[in-house]
Amino acid sequence: MNDQNLDGPVTLPSSRAPGCPFDPPPELTALARRGEPLTRLAFPDGHVGWLVTGYDAARTVLSDPRFTVRPELRHSPLSRPNVRPGGHDKPPAPGWFANMDRPEHARYRRLLTGRFTFRRMKLLEPRVARITADHLDAMADAGPPVDLVPAFALPIPSLVICELLGVPYDDHAFFEEQTTVAVNLDNTSEQAMAAIGSLARYLGDLVRHKRTRPADDLLSDLITETDLTDEELANIGLLLLVAGHETTAHMLALGTFALLRHPEQLAASALDETAVEELLRYLTIVHLGGPNRAALEDVEIAGRLIREGETVVLGLPAINRDPERFTDPDTLRLDRADARHHLGFGHGVHQCLGQQLARIEMRIAYRALFDRFPTLRLAVPVEDVPMRETAIVYGTWRLPVTWDRS
Ligand code: HEM
Repeated sequence: MNDQNLDGPVTLPSSRAPGCPFDPPPELTALARRGEPLTRLAFPDGHVGWLVTGYDAARTVLSDPRFTVRPELRHSPLSRPNVRPGGHDKPPAPGWFANMDRPEHARYRRLLTGRFTFRRMKLLEPRVARITADHLDAMADAGPPVDLVPAFALPIPSLVICELLGVPYDDHAFFEEQTTVAVNLDNTSEQAMAAIGSLARYLGDLVRHKRTRPADDLLSDLITETDLTDEELANIGLLLLVAGHETTAHMLALGTFALLRHPEQLAASALDETAVEELLRYLTIVHLGGPNRAALEDVEIAGRLIREGETVVLGLPAINRDPERFTDPDTLRLDRADARHHLGFGHGVHQCLGQQLARIEMRIAYRALFDRFPTLRLAVPVEDVPMRETAIVYGTWRLPVTWDRS
């Protein structure tokens, strides 16, 4: 299983298969269970940094301002860098606040946090329920089998984020396709950059259009209520559009897959908030290269000295299965009381802006799906479900399901 020499730097384990498709890569679990929260990590460009697999160490790194998210200061742990507007080795493009440190980051977050609170997102519940019901009706009309990814998992969060931002959903095929190109590590950097470039141009055109014709949506509100430039607005819109549909979509598909593989758990669960948190913990879809940071100065964490300039990768799938934090961590327990302490949405100032929206979407969609199709099951053998091993966000490329017609 793990033939890495644990005394020297390891390379980032990535393949979850061939074991359980929901478990972290076996090599990652082996590293995490050695009792050392940090391990030296060899990066594809020759840099030697760190891999964090311990829960407490992860929280410390993510909340310590001596670590930066700036792309030009970090080494990429991936076979090709994760792309973003302006390039991965340049300072963050205006508005791309996910890659900014404070105080710049706080300036953007302040403009957005109030618009993504639990209370604001709760107002969207009836609309999320309606969108979900419409897609379940369409599935019932089409009849089994269906691929749950395009029929359910992708369109629901996609439509919700489009309506919230004011992006025409008619263009969803375009931005979903471009997003897939950008995040799949099988594509070259050039292909990924071209995809991000076309998405940025699309958002730029949309922002210019909204300046002349503002409507009742978040981008229009930001145009009228702030002094953000068109470029800042386009990049904020792009960040929210990509983060808002890609992640939740794969949680919906992978979560459904996991529930189908644990029928006894499914039968006993109300699929409530607690169950959603446990699925987030157990599945931890932000898996390849996780969040990562670079040290701005020498920092000591868990007895290890991280030198200025070294990049630290957070192995979230292992961190959320840390036995020191979660009892019996490899077991899915939909009623696990402390599941909400998982770091699946990150931690610290960059903690996921859209987490309340994602939680609402998951709670409504899982429940509605299994209420509507109580006999839902896989339409193919488990091994034939193609897993997103090479995508930055884990999940299934397809999820063929079937059910008994009533
Ligand atoms: C940040 C996960 C849904 C928008 C993050 C981070 C994680 C994450 C781990 C932290 C990255 C880091 O620290 O470097 C997830 C998961 C989701 C989800 C698992 C779904 C289940 C969403 C949604 C939106 C969104 C629905 C938009 C509405 C963002 C943004 C950031 C972020 C804008 C950057 C925040 C910042 O840097 O201040 N997300 N996310 N996410 N997420 Fe999410």
